[in-house]
Amino acid sequence: MIRRFVSGRPIVTGAVVRRLPAESMDGFPFAHRLDGGRFVFSFPLEKDEIVYGLGEAPRGINKRGWIYRSFCSDDYLHTEEKEAFYAAHNFLLHDGCGIFIDFPAEIRWDIGYARADEAVITLDGEDFEIYLIFGETPRAVVREFRSLIGKSYVPPFWAFGFQQSRWSYPDAEAVRDIVRGYDEAGLPLDAVYLDIDYMDHYKNFTVDREAFPDLAGLAAEMKAEGIHLVPIIDAGVKKEEGYAVYEEGRDKGYFCRNADGTDFEGGVWPGTVGFPDFLRPEVRAWFGEKYRILTDMGIDGFWNDMNEPALFYSAKGLADALETASEMRGKNLDLPQFFALKGAFEGLDNRREDYASIWHEIDGRPVNHMRVHNLYGASMTRAAGEFFEEAFGKEKILLISRASCIGAHRYGGIWFGDNHSWWQHILLCLKMLPSANMCGFLYCGADLGGFGGNTTPDLLLRFLALGVFTPLMRNHSAMGTRDQECFRFENTADFRDVTRVRYRLIPYLYETFRRAAEEGDMMFRPLSFDWPDDPLARECETQLLLGDECMIAPVYEQNVSGRTVYLPEEMCFVKLSGDRITAKEILPPGLHYIRVALNEVPLFLKKGKSIPLCRPALRTSRLDIAGKEDLTW
Ligand code: GLC
Repeated sequence: MIRRFVSGRPIVTGAVVRRLPAESMDGFPFAHRLDGGRFVFSFPLEKDEIVYGLGEAPRGINKRGWIYRSFCSDDYLHTEEKEAFYAAHNFLLHDGCGIFIDFPAEIRWDIGYARADEAVITLDGEDFEIYLIFGETPRAVVREFRSLIGKSYVPPFWAFGFQQSRWSYPDAEAVRDIVRGYDEAGLPLDAVYLDIDYMDHYKNFTVDREAFPDLAGLAAEMKAEGIHLVPIIDAGVKKEEGYAVYEEGRDKGYFCRNADGTDFEGGVWPGTVGFPDFLRPEVRAWFGEKYRILTDMGIDGFWNDMNEPALFYSAKGLADALETASEMRGKNLDLPQFFALKGAFEGLDNRREDYASIWHEIDGRPVNHMRVHNLYGASMTRAAGEFFEEAFGKEKILLISRASCIGAHRYGGIWFGDNHSWWQHILLCLKMLPSANMCGFLYCGADLGGFGGNTTPDLLLRFLALGVFTPLMRNHSAMGTRDQECFRFENTADFRDVTRVRYRLIPYLYETFRRAAEEGDMMFRPLSFDWPDDPLARECETQLLLGDECMIAPVYEQNVSGRTVYLPEEMCFVKLSGDRITAKEILPPGLHYIRVALNEVPLFLKKGKSIPLCRPALRTSRLDIAGKEDLTW
């Protein structure tokens, strides 16, 4: 059962696919008020109640005890004190009731922070829709919610293979080296990503002809070997005379504007860019069609980036900072002056006042960016997704995005952005999986091994042992960090053992994924969903249920030989390693310390269940799906 409440004149976000009768806010069951143009509502939290949701967001599976913000943020330091990451997933689930706020401006979620026994949610505006979703169980609430927002994106089958990325593989030869490195080490691989340097001076839909003289030829050569190339596309379009995409966008008036009607100019990788106004259908159609330049070269996968949108500086912000700097020139800088100078540059990126100076057009009328901020990245995904579906049909093109909001789950997947080579980020990824699934994002995953900072082989292996289960299994790392491809380390055999497990599991993972997409279900669930009355299951933040058959529990600390797991009921503990099953043991309910070597992937089968395992291969296209055997209880 779903109730829909409407306030004012909400912006149509496209998040919802079902039309439901609207109720006025008079009947809204939670305490609420208007506060200086903001809508605030609150509800009590019982002592042991769990609050789920918010998708890709900081902290735990249980969101209690912190403040979160729905404001898509380009922030590469995913530390505990953060309130927002790249996404705005406005779905919360507590006490048998789902709350979906269909509203693209900022929302502040105080979930038992100011007061432990209360949730206070503040919307930065008065025009919105709120859906209340009811069901017998949390899982039923999620299913009902998902019927409201429509079916999740399903990528092509090969996108379940292992994918390797780096910022950046500089040229075609480097790409060949990566594939060779994997092949020679007997490590499976299905895709290689091309980061910003494949472009000519970071211009979308161009190719650096010196580094990649024949991208179409390279794509064909790779395809013949079963490898897919996945280039990046950024939101901003470089301002440059003679660059067709920019000139067209400018001449057609397709870029976001300043208040005075001139094009808004911001700085990102290419320097000054225009930001396509993806909220306009004609701009989406125009930009979407540009992907054809690359699909015509045989490309069938893309990652959309910097679409919060990330803003290194605005033209005005940069001019002000340079002005401050020139005023300080030659002065003996005292403390306030020095910090003023430093702050002038440090505070340049992603400034609220710059976002507030951007204007979109909706139905011919100007709309300030702050009112629709969270729709921007999602609309870029939609531009690409709509084009792909129209041109190629469903499930043909891989698409992942950094920024997202609910609704974009129908057009593409997401990766969790710029994490670090930190042990704690294994768990951060694990905790985001069920939360993202609730919100419709099934095809997702983190940068395995960590994006920022230097990884270590043990961290990468433990990260991969979680990544074996995430639909997107991609190793990616930042410029300037240590090489992170699996064949770079001396213990290549360990990497072979872990990544081959993925390929053994692909038939199972793919089926579980498809079923979740079809039925509006979650692929990963918190333990509390299945054992709502078991206190330890309710508190568990380090293990997940996978489908109806399995439980996963990755090792997440350095220099340990295993971890403690909690079994709410009797389960079969299995360790998979390469083509082998290195342990299989029925464990009674309770707490157990399990030992897991670096080359093993732990897995728990629920009582009486079995899952298919196939023989591993170096490519998904070479998997012998028919030759499966069952891993049984
Ligand atoms: C952003 C992306 C990252 C990418 C980098 C360069 O930080 O999140 O994945 O490698 O930009 O394009």
